[in-house]
Amino acid sequence: MISMSKNIIVTGGLGYIGSHSCVELIDHGYTPILIDNLSNSKKDVLDRLCKITGQNIVFYEEDIRNREALDSIFEKHHPLSVIHFAGLKAVGESVDQPARYYSNNVKGSLYLIDVMKAHDVKSLIFSSSATVYNVDLSPPFTEAMPTGQVGNPYGRTKYMVEEMMKDIAATDASLSMTILRYFNPVGAHESGLIGEDPQGIPNNLMPYMAKVASGDLAELSIYGDDYETIDGTGVRDYIHVVDLARGHVMALDQSLKSTGVNIYNLGSGDGYSVKQVLSSYESACGNVIPCKIVGRRPGDIAASYADIKKVQNEMGWAPTKNLDDMCQDSWRWIQNRGKAS
Ligand code: NAD
Ligand code: WQD
Repeated sequence: MISMSKNIIVTGGLGYIGSHSCVELIDHGYTPILIDNLSNSKKDVLDRLCKITGQNIVFYEEDIRNREALDSIFEKHHPLSVIHFAGLKAVGESVDQPARYYSNNVKGSLYLIDVMKAHDVKSLIFSSSATVYNVDLSPPFTEAMPTGQVGNPYGRTKYMVEEMMKDIAATDASLSMTILRYFNPVGAHESGLIGEDPQGIPNNLMPYMAKVASGDLAELSIYGDDYETIDGTGVRDYIHVVDLARGHVMALDQSLKSTGVNIYNLGSGDGYSVKQVLSSYESACGNVIPCKIVGRRPGDIAASYADIKKVQNEMGWAPTKNLDDMCQDSWRWIQNRGKAS
């Protein structure tokens, strides 16, 4: 059957990156079919997506480990591709609950690939992470650098799924497997209607900083100022979530015209220190953000940022938004959050 649909399965579609990607998919003529078990997102994101896009969006509250549910969704919608965001992503939590992370991230991905194969869906785009790069490497990281010497179970689940995809692609030359290694996604859609909304106390810098700026949390702890970096604080590659989402649409366009395994870094290619981010966020929110220097966080590296030449040359993707845009859009979302959608 020739598929006339432009249906794209989006697992984890109500999550932070999935929801922003849903907007970009619709803007580019695709029809996202969202699957999410709401383990780290809220159903009202769907209403907000409908408001932003003016479209009714198909959503299934399902776990990707429910193969029967996946099977019926694929049978009904005959997707062209799958963009696979669904996953648990908290590094510290993964150390305490490794079996939960392997079940969710690895077994879930394997079940998804099984169902794709059963329905002859050839294209998969996977949310991987810069965490897969060996911990002893120095930036800028290129896609050719070694992976797998990872310091935590979360990163190992990402590495394992990457290796699974490569091994499966080696058995079927018609498959198109795209691995996107994200660095540090931050920011929010310009509408202020969707953004990063982690449940509980945030682990990551910008959502934590945002809660201090809004008064929800008292003070930001800066994990160490004795690294060999521009000002002693940790340097990371922050990428606006909308730039990241647009990268997925470009990867999808490419995936539908190609086969084999393609791996790309999605980052800004620039590194900013904690203090630089703090300064930009204070400009965005117009307040001084209380903070204190504490000891290093176990497992942290001094600096991480991407070499993005490969994605620029092969896909023509490049970030368009800078650190101030990221902080301003994040702050607008924080101010609007909780308002009626
Ligand atoms: P998120 O938690 O906001 O989104 C993930 C979504 O997947 C959530 O809505 C959650 O409810 C859903 N989900 C989780 N397990 C599921 C399951 N078994 N079945 C169905 N739905 C499930 O996270 P995010 O920041 O949007 O990240 C999306 C993906 O990108 C994740 O795989 C994450 O590991 C990866 N990633 C994120 C970052 C980052 O800093 N945000 C960096 C690198 C990679
Ligand atoms: C950024 C910088 C901290 C919080 C993590 C995961 C990675 C990926 C992205 C999923 C570091 C400092 C942070 C705070 C701080 N997620 N910091 N005070 O660690 O680069 O990457 O998120 O794939 O896998 O490891 O991001 O935002 O936690 O930290 O000083 O309260 O901010 O030390 O230098 P990280 P982060």
